[in-house]
Amino acid sequence: MKQFEIQGVTGRSKIVVGEHLENVRFYLPDTPVVIITDDTVAGLYEKNFPSVPVIKIGFGEGIKTLDTVAGIYRELIRLEADRSAFLLGIGGGIVCDVTGFVASTYLRGVRFGYAPTTLLAQVDASVGGKTGVNVDGYKNMAGVFSQPEFVVCDPMVLKTLPERELCSGFAEIVKHAAISDAAYFTYLEKNVANALALDPEVLERIIYDSVAIKAGVVNRDETEKGERRKLNFGHTFGHAVEKTTGLPHGEAVSIGMVVAAKLSAARGMLMPDDVDRIIQLLSCFHLPTRMDSDREKILDALARDKKREGDGIHFVLLTAIGNAVVEKITVAEISQSV
Ligand SMILES: NC(=O)c1ccc[n+]([C@@H]2O[C@H](COP(=O)([O-])OP(=O)(O)OC[C@H]3O[C@@H](n4cnc5c(N)ncnc54)[C@H](O)[C@@H]3O)[C@@H](O)[C@H]2O)c1
Ligand SMILES: [Zn+2]
Repeated sequence: MKQFEIQGVTGRSKIVVGEHLENVRFYLPDTPVVIITDDTVAGLYEKNFPSVPVIKIGFGEGIKTLDTVAGIYRELIRLEADRSAFLLGIGGGIVCDVTGFVASTYLRGVRFGYAPTTLLAQVDASVGGKTGVNVDGYKNMAGVFSQPEFVVCDPMVLKTLPERELCSGFAEIVKHAAISDAAYFTYLEKNVANALALDPEVLERIIYDSVAIKAGVVNRDETEKGERRKLNFGHTFGHAVEKTTGLPHGEAVSIGMVVAAKLSAARGMLMPDDVDRIIQLLSCFHLPTRMDSDREKILDALARDKKREGDGIHFVLLTAIGNAVVEKITVAEISQSV
């Protein structure tokens, strides 16, 4: 088991990796606790939850709404939860985002923690203090920055996660290594098979390193000005792919990272061999590295999305595996690397 603390502008978070979900009860304060979870996670793991009231919120991106938030407020009122209440989110990124938002706004803010149960939530959504919900289908339109008191990650709950969800998480992990840690990238190359087989020791190291990288970047820039932009590696193009093709986020980001790596090489910043290593590693994690159709539509979506940035788009490029820079780049230049 590994643990460390993140000291952010909006609070302090204790991160624990390799703890059993059953033991999350030892991290709870001595005040009334309410669990927020989704139906799938409750079905699989409710038997391992601490024995406190549980609010279930359906599942899927469609429930990440203000209606769900209002429903949880009502349940909390029914349970007579007061300012001493502690909310524990057990689930994927959606449960974490909703729990954090509810906790930060119910009675002007109550304490909260997360036990993330998807790889994406463990290495990405639970770290960094972003919480929120979608509005009319627009992603994360309402939210606040607020840090959970703790994040307890049990890699063993990933055994029940569908493979496609698991691999989406690995896309963000490859991103973390590519933007800031060459040795970690090499470790991933050597341990792909063990990681996919959910070897506990390998997963613990991977989750820990990824959380540390994200937390480090966020701490240097908690409200997203410069440094935090590096976490958008693969995401500028990836979001356009996601919107146009409907591919899952991680798969779209995988394609976006390859485009960004190729662009870096076209600018003479990154060695072609390093582009191949990135493509190879993503393929090993069963992630797509190119799109076979919709090229024009994706470039259109990108241009439309980024109109307000003027003639250049802030784009994350690599100068080496393990080192990212943010540069302005035109859609025309991007189209040459797609
Ligand atoms: N706050 C942030 O910084 C941040 C960062 C990245 C993503 N996000 C958000 O996270 C969300 C995506 O998160 P996600 O990919 O975890 O999606 P999710 O929460 O929908 O989980 C994916 C699916 O897996 C199921 N599931 C969860 N744990 C399981 C387990 N252990 N076994 C079997 N099934 C399980 C869920 O019920 C769900 O159907 C998006 O809404 C995104 O905006 C937030
Ligand atoms: Zn992402």
